Amino acid sequence: VPSPLHRVRGRLRRTRGWEALVLAKALARGGERREAAVAMLLKPDNLFQPYTTTSADRYPEEFAAVAEALEVSEPRILSFGCASGDELLSVRQYFPSARIHGIDLNPLAVRAARKRVRGDHAITVAKGGDASAESPASYDVVLALAVFRHGSLKDAPVRCDQLIRFADFERTVATLSAALRPGGLLVIRHANFLFTACAVAAAYEQVLTGFASGSDGKPTPVYDRQNTLLGFERDDGVYRKLG
Ligand SMILES: C[S@@+](CC[C@H](N)C(=O)[O-])C[C@H]1O[C@@H](n2cnc3c(N)ncnc32)[C@H](O)[C@@H]1O
Repeated sequence: VPSPLHRVRGRLRRTRGWEALVLAKALARGGERREAAVAMLLKPDNLFQPYTTTSADRYPEEFAAVAEALEVSEPRILSFGCASGDELLSVRQYFPSARIHGIDLNPLAVRAARKRVRGDHAITVAKGGDASAESPASYDVVLALAVFRHGSLKDAPVRCDQLIRFADFERTVATLSAALRPGGLLVIRHANFLFTACAVAAAYEQVLTGFASGSDGKPTPVYDRQNTLLGFERDDGVYRKLG
């Protein structure tokens, strides 16, 4: 089996001139640019957002809403698409007694996240593209923040399926839902799809939606089950799984 480095080199060789140059520069730069270049070159199955952009305390309103709605003192929290670890450390600030697990598809982000949380034995990080490896009903909170989107949809093209597909979103959300206990909270933010368009949403009630738009300050275009542009009306926010 070729190593990830061999696969990256092979893909780079097959990429056209200018694009290859841009990717090579990003690989050389390091940090989030290198992480995104590796994602674009490896194209792992079920990849949504290839950009690993993150920062500390990005979701104060969402975490405050979760803290208020949560009924347990030592919550088990899944951070799906945790990137290089800022989200894990932010969650720790809001929930000092939580057990936190991060999952990300990007191998470089996973490596960086593990380094960042070293020393906190109640935070673990795994590489993965969904939550199917998690035990059923094993979390009180599941976060999927700025994961179910793609940066190249920012200009709202009519279709999104050249980049991401509703069927993959729905299937992945179903694995997140299976990992959440009845009564637990699911938080989805900055998605290019509607949570309420998923079959599993029938088992949820709304806790808080209507957060301000745009992780990058721009409105997030939203696509329907057929991957066609619906507009900019979103339904993402905090939902509770019915018991
Ligand atoms: C923009 S970052 C968001 C990071 C963090 N959640 C935040 O909001 O600050 C998107 C992350 O989602 C990850 N990602 C994309 N598709 C994924 C998938 N199917 N499974 C797990 N992680 C995924 C990317 O690797 C990237 O690190």
